[in-house]
Amino acid sequence: MYKFVMPEVIFGSGSISQTGECCARLGARHVLVVTDQGIMDAGWTEQVLKSCRVAGLAATLFCGVSVNPTDDEADICTRVYQENGCDAIMAVGGGSAIDIGKAAAVLAANGGHIRDYEGVDRILHPLPPLVMVPTTAGSGSEVSQFSVIVDSSRRKKMTIVSKSLVPDIAVIDPDVLATKSARLTATTGLDVITHAIESFVSVAATPMTDVQAKNALMLASRYLRPSVASKYNREAKEKMAMASLQAGLAFSNAILGAAHAMSHTIGGRYPFLHGDINAVLLPHVMEFNFIACPDKFREMAVLMGEDVTGLSDIAAGEKAIQSVRKLAVDIGAPLTLSEMGFEAEAIAEISEIALTDACMITNPRDISAEEVAVLLTRALS
Ligand SMILES: [Fe+2]
Repeated sequence: MYKFVMPEVIFGSGSISQTGECCARLGARHVLVVTDQGIMDAGWTEQVLKSCRVAGLAATLFCGVSVNPTDDEADICTRVYQENGCDAIMAVGGGSAIDIGKAAAVLAANGGHIRDYEGVDRILHPLPPLVMVPTTAGSGSEVSQFSVIVDSSRRKKMTIVSKSLVPDIAVIDPDVLATKSARLTATTGLDVITHAIESFVSVAATPMTDVQAKNALMLASRYLRPSVASKYNREAKEKMAMASLQAGLAFSNAILGAAHAMSHTIGGRYPFLHGDINAVLLPHVMEFNFIACPDKFREMAVLMGEDVTGLSDIAAGEKAIQSVRKLAVDIGAPLTLSEMGFEAEAIAEISEIALTDACMITNPRDISAEEVAVLLTRALS
């Protein structure tokens, strides 16, 4: 028995102009628009505000979202929501803006501290309407039942999982991706690859998540390189937007694995980009997980365009891992944790904390703190 949850999805060029009408359909009168300075500078926030005006809605702007968003930002965002009498939240941005939008919705409707909701299914009261507009491909947060927020007192990223966090509507406009730098396109694209692979091999994978994960992996393997190469390759942007969406649907329902559990823990302590950490960790986690499901590794190699004819599952599985490494090299992602500034002294503590992350539960191979430490040591250099 399993379930599959997802929001209404509006996908396509120009769909950002529909955002105000989406909020109006959900009964909103005063929308809190959550975003960051980069998105405002790119002009996308103005388009969303204009769409709200056209739909006859009042709007208040909150643009205090950082790269690794914190509980303090969630508190401030909630105050802005309440003090301005808002009744719906629209986040425009990458995973950070969307996760803060979700956290503010939780706090506005349920009170307390966002820490109170860490883990699975701890949100009791229904949230205000949520419309999410991703500007990267991407976090997948616009369709997921996750919000990941840094607990500043514990310097740890908390994973909050609840069906309540599935937005009402996701508006995915591939045109928005054209304003992203090659660097950001690369790091967010490798997050998509990590979502697809971890959800495909997850112990909670189902036929419905496998369809999404496999197509996402196939699309991202094929189109991430050209998407990084050119801002103006519309086909690559559209395919990567779809890959991000499908990987998001897959991991929202099948959850993730050890790479994300470690990545969340490191991201709570260091100001690294989430996709960069995943890019470095993923091949090491794949090598560790391989014995759990060699047949799935063979499938992944084929989806990534590798020829596995006549190869054993072991040889084919190695090709999947090599393919991931080659992609990271080709698009200029960091290849080691040490080049990012991670220190060996942190490994013991990070390993213990990573074991408690909700994403570790669905990793296909049982893992101990000692084994996490070995993987982090391998990823160092
Ligand atoms: Fe991720």
